[in-house]
Amino acid sequence: MNLERLFNKEVMSLDTYIMFRLKEETSMLKDELTARNRAPISLSMGAPTANPPKALINRLKEILDEDGIHTYSTPKGENYFREAISKYMKRRFNVEMNPETEIFSLVGSKEGIANLVRFITTPRENEFDKDVIMVPDPCYASYLQFIQCSGAKAYSMPLTKENDYKPDAEKIYSQIIKDGYKPENIKALFINYPNNPMGISSTREYVRTVIDFCKKHDILLVSDAAYSELYFAEDEKPFSIFEIDGAKDIGIEFFSFSKPYAVTGWRLGWVCGNKDVIQRLGKGKSTIDNGIYKALQKACAEILNSPEGDKYIKEGNMGYARKQAIMVKGFKELGWEIDEKNVPHTTFYLWLPIPRKYTSAFDFCRDVLRKSGVVLVPGNAFGNCGEGFFRLSFVCSDEKLREVIDRFKQDGFYY
Ligand SMILES: Cc1ncc(COP(=O)(O)O)c(C=O)c1O
Repeated sequence: MNLERLFNKEVMSLDTYIMFRLKEETSMLKDELTARNRAPISLSMGAPTANPPKALINRLKEILDEDGIHTYSTPKGENYFREAISKYMKRRFNVEMNPETEIFSLVGSKEGIANLVRFITTPRENEFDKDVIMVPDPCYASYLQFIQCSGAKAYSMPLTKENDYKPDAEKIYSQIIKDGYKPENIKALFINYPNNPMGISSTREYVRTVIDFCKKHDILLVSDAAYSELYFAEDEKPFSIFEIDGAKDIGIEFFSFSKPYAVTGWRLGWVCGNKDVIQRLGKGKSTIDNGIYKALQKACAEILNSPEGDKYIKEGNMGYARKQAIMVKGFKELGWEIDEKNVPHTTFYLWLPIPRKYTSAFDFCRDVLRKSGVVLVPGNAFGNCGEGFFRLSFVCSDEKLREVIDRFKQDGFYY
């Protein structure tokens, strides 16, 4: 069969998503690694391994017996779900969100962002006719795949020490035009704070400049707030773009239940903000899914504004602070030069340079996997600016994290 004829060029050019590729490779090596006392320890995916809040699970069990709970929901989400989100946005960020018009449920924020990209871009063959989306570099690897798959261009906004991880959107815009792309094809600018893969945060002042930039050029501001609840220092507490005046004129923000409540498999999130964009995105989405399973919506709506939910997140964050300290101490012992003042207190990721003797992040991560059974992610999977770095997720038990450091020592992986 001629697949090239069946599938479009963009889909044909896709590689398996990096996290699934690593999973496949790890499972192929599992027996051999286990026989050498190096059973795989996965620090690749950003998926908490803790159990979800007990109160959430208990409520879900009760809800499963309710009449009518197993039928189709609606794409935008049940009233109680959107009302709980509206209450939460007020309680957590002091922002108003109309549950009728400004909030839409998502089958995980990944689904929402992927569909948004499809709906705002038109696939084009000629490079300089392509729609452009400005993305942080490094960024959540899926952005690059969504954009590639949509036949559009992901234009890199480098996050570097030199620019204090706050790229100058105006300067990059000029460069995009200079490169030959058309101003009318620049559709959106993505920000993601706290950031995957680096864990860095932003400031209100910087986001203010991005809002002004997007308004000036009529570009959609897309804020990915998947990690908004993962912080362990009060002065790094993430904020919503809607805390800043004018953000609703031009912006939408994506949120996720996955990480704060350790329910990555449940697939629940929401998008909120500019009502015209939300409604249009919702119309498109309604052609694809029927919303989230109602029992999950109900249980999650309840946990979102509950003391049990807040306590769970707080304790989880204390755990991540402890795990980060284990890893920072361990990597320092291994020779990494880590300035603890600059280690972000958000997310569950550690972003480090590869050892001096390596020139490729891919080679380093491959060697660590094959020799030590530890699954890391090469930095360039997150964009070109990630070359020379690797990311690890400290989501597993403290014992396993200590074991990783021991294996690095025994197997000679020093900085
Ligand atoms: C930055 C970022 N956004 C969105 C997601 C997707 O989360 P979910 O689809 O589970 O809500 C992830 C998952 O790792 C992420 O890192």
